[in-house]
Amino acid sequence: MAGNLLATKPIDSILNEANEQGEHCLRRALGPINLITIGIGGIIGAGIFVLTGTAAAQFAGPAIVISYIIAGIGCIFAGLCYAEFASMLPIAGSAYTYGYATMGEFVAWIIGWALVLEYAFGAATVAVGWSGFVNSLVHFFGAKLPFNPTPGLTLSLFGHPFTAQVDLFALTAIVIITIVLVIGVRESANFNSTAVMIKVSIVIFFIGLAGTYAFGHWPHMVANWHPFIPPNAGHFGQFGWSGIMRGAGVVFFAYIGFDAVSTAAQEARNPQKDMPFGILGSLIVCTALYIFVAGLLTGIKSYTTLNVAAPVADGAAAIGVRWGVLLIDLGAIAGLASVMLVMLLGQSRVLYTMSRDGLLWNWVGKLHPRFRTPYITSIVVGILAAFLAAFFPITLLGELVSLGTLLAFTIVSLGVWVLRVRHPELHRPFRTPLVPLVPICGMVVSLALMLSLDAPAWIGFGSWLILGQIIYFTYSRKHSKVQKQAKMQAAD
Ligand code: ALA
Repeated sequence: MAGNLLATKPIDSILNEANEQGEHCLRRALGPINLITIGIGGIIGAGIFVLTGTAAAQFAGPAIVISYIIAGIGCIFAGLCYAEFASMLPIAGSAYTYGYATMGEFVAWIIGWALVLEYAFGAATVAVGWSGFVNSLVHFFGAKLPFNPTPGLTLSLFGHPFTAQVDLFALTAIVIITIVLVIGVRESANFNSTAVMIKVSIVIFFIGLAGTYAFGHWPHMVANWHPFIPPNAGHFGQFGWSGIMRGAGVVFFAYIGFDAVSTAAQEARNPQKDMPFGILGSLIVCTALYIFVAGLLTGIKSYTTLNVAAPVADGAAAIGVRWGVLLIDLGAIAGLASVMLVMLLGQSRVLYTMSRDGLLWNWVGKLHPRFRTPYITSIVVGILAAFLAAFFPITLLGELVSLGTLLAFTIVSLGVWVLRVRHPELHRPFRTPLVPLVPICGMVVSLALMLSLDAPAWIGFGSWLILGQIIYFTYSRKHSKVQKQAKMQAAD
């Protein structure tokens, strides 16, 4: 029986699916620029606009720059592994399909299930952050809303009434993005490109503004950077080198999203060449921007003052540019919208592929007759994300997202190595350098970051995986196409 769990999906059949064309297939509409903007769209968001300040204030001080470099290097290891797979097996399932091709159905199922944490829970986390920026914009103009954006809702669980705060802005954000996604991938990519243009311009605007300020106020900047690594405060993770590591675990969230490029592989016009470009290009651009923002922000304001809801906007206020605050709020609103879009897009594409493999119900893979998008899945995922965004706290959601993502990174890194050993002959348009060193580094960094996360998140993660096993053993295993084919071959 255990052999079934290890059934791998034949590479040939994956390549055939990737090359399919026609009415029942996703539309190949994305070029290299679309792909790099999908990457940047997924990456720049709540992480850089919020976590830079909070992690500097609580864990790393000005050395948050080093935390960003460490997390960025970890992601580049994983990104190099994703790039090899995405160019070789350009299919919408992404990490899930790579796992299916290399480590068998059960591991593939676990990755697919963990990716729901990354994408659906990720979109929900960002929606809560987005709602914070909309509130801040409302306050900036001193406007009074005619309604309460976070009304209390009294519910009952096993006869015990309790009140839940419903975040209406977060809910609305997910509803709008879901509508855009149902309409079509090209429309989604256009929406995303506009949002990316706005957010990148505003990050560059901040770097320009802060850089100019730094030239005129060098002694002030140097004073704030001193001590660059504040001494450890007596506990693991509170400043010193352990604080830098804890900071890296937290700001890792800021990099999540580059892998979403690989979920759009089946909609790319020339995936062999453009996938590595999209994944690595977006990662490198964002790493550079992050290092500048983190360095300049901790120079303008002492790290001790950065534990606030909108630290980057506060940085502009400290320079004395009030309209800069408005621009940064708008940039964050656009930026976070595109993160939600990319995550929900990635989610529906992964579930679409799992359904085509028979591991999820048929309706999950059903395409809209006109838009050719997996519309039912997009809507169901939208409802799940809206529910999570409306009711759950952002910190727990954020850590669950990181755990799910890091598990996928670990398995993808291992998968590159396994496939090199099992199928050295396969054509690889992009080759991860220094195998097995780079995959091993990818795994080690990912596991270390997972271990730096808190117990409640691990409990949520464990429960999520158990729910996944129940679905796998009651439904997926019986309907799996790979299992059915293996049985037919055995009977012949
Ligand atoms: N990287 C994304 C963000 O920072 C998830 O919002």
